[in-house]
Amino acid sequence: MRALVWHGKEDIRCDTVTDPEIQDPRDAIIKVTSCAICGSDLHLFHNMIPAMLPGDILGHETMGEVVEVGKGCKGKLKKGDRIVVPFTIFCGECEQCRRGNYSCCETSNRKKELCEKVFGHTVAGLFGYTHLTGGYPGGQAEYLRVPFADTTHIKVPDSLTDEQALFLSDILPTGWQAAVQCDIEPTDTVAIWGCGPVGQMAIRSAVLLGAKQVVAIDCLPERLGMAEAGGAIPINFLEESVISRLNELTDGKGPEKCIDAVGSESHVSFAQPDTLFDRAKQLMLLENDRPHVLREMAYVCRPGGILSIPGVYLGLDDKIPMGHIMNKGLTIRTGQTHVNRWTDDLLQRIEDGQLDPSFVITHTVDLEDGPEMYRVFRDKQDSCIKVVLRP
Ligand SMILES: NC(=O)c1ccc[n+]([C@@H]2O[C@H](COP(=O)([O-])OP(=O)(O)OC[C@H]3O[C@@H](n4cnc5c(N)ncnc54)[C@H](O)[C@@H]3O)[C@@H](O)[C@H]2O)c1
Ligand SMILES: [Zn+2]
Ligand SMILES: [Zn+2]
Repeated sequence: MRALVWHGKEDIRCDTVTDPEIQDPRDAIIKVTSCAICGSDLHLFHNMIPAMLPGDILGHETMGEVVEVGKGCKGKLKKGDRIVVPFTIFCGECEQCRRGNYSCCETSNRKKELCEKVFGHTVAGLFGYTHLTGGYPGGQAEYLRVPFADTTHIKVPDSLTDEQALFLSDILPTGWQAAVQCDIEPTDTVAIWGCGPVGQMAIRSAVLLGAKQVVAIDCLPERLGMAEAGGAIPINFLEESVISRLNELTDGKGPEKCIDAVGSESHVSFAQPDTLFDRAKQLMLLENDRPHVLREMAYVCRPGGILSIPGVYLGLDDKIPMGHIMNKGLTIRTGQTHVNRWTDDLLQRIEDGQLDPSFVITHTVDLEDGPEMYRVFRDKQDSCIKVVLRP
């Protein structure tokens, strides 16, 4: 089959690889009908996350039709079913799964020892996302083996298009979880850094969950425009001071809730000198991330507020203002998304017409064009916001 394969830093190719086969009774194989490129894939593109190996198949936002089912799926899935595959692989039986903490599944990471060594504990296996999280082949491919397929799926009705359903795999529940973790009250201002696909979903979620005011921060006009269309007040951080504007919008008190939908790869600019410092430290291998947004959120957030962090961080960060966080009594909530904790509710909302996540798609191309689209998405060429690939 054809698949997008990681060969090294900024080297992704569409290769012919071996078709996946059932390896465990709980596996299923799907024929992929649509898949997408995520901001998280850019961290792999930049080789920022350790433990990728040449030959690894990328992709963790995937849907398709079930073509083969292992005997262990016990009637939960059958040939012909149309499913979205959550990016977190989960067993449904361990203590973490029983609590709904699917991204912390204790069973699904087949390279647990490696993960335990690095993080102190294992976390769930993820599709197409480094050997720290299992080294499972991803879904930017014609076919995908789904491990623990009896639990790791979201069935979708034929009434929804691929475009409406695909983002249940990741960015929709990710934006939703980020907003839910803010315990939004009707009097709250929710400030969201980053208007990429995750930020866009967080904006719609915060609006749906009844925030008084949602503010969106980025520097790309087309993304700020999409944020405004979703009900947010835009701030362009290259044109004005984020701190002053947020204070102005909240009678000098600061937003109660702050969401970091940027993560480790904050823009490097002279307007934000700490990012230059982080970049230099990254080059000297003294720091993993550029946590500018964390610093800004800790400074501007109202005392007693919540910092919700869906943005991915990779390792060790410098100059995290624990003094601000501690003295202002801020709560930090973060994590890879517990996708299936939210998807029944979100699927219902899509079916009811409350939400249509397809608004975020700007490019739909063949799988063969995937390598080129990694660049277009990374460089924000052609006003690119979200790429869907069709194998
Ligand atoms: N927690 C999870 O389970 C989960 C799931 C999916 C994605 N993610 C992460 O969420 C983050 C966003 O993903 P995405 O797909 O939207 O990526 P993206 O790269 O398309 O978007 C990031 C946006 O942040 C903006 N940005 C950069 N620096 C900024 C700054 N200082 N202030 C404000 N905005 C800034 C960029 O211009 C860009 O629009 C990534 O870190 C990704 O890895 C996490
Ligand atoms: Zn993702
Ligand atoms: Zn589990």
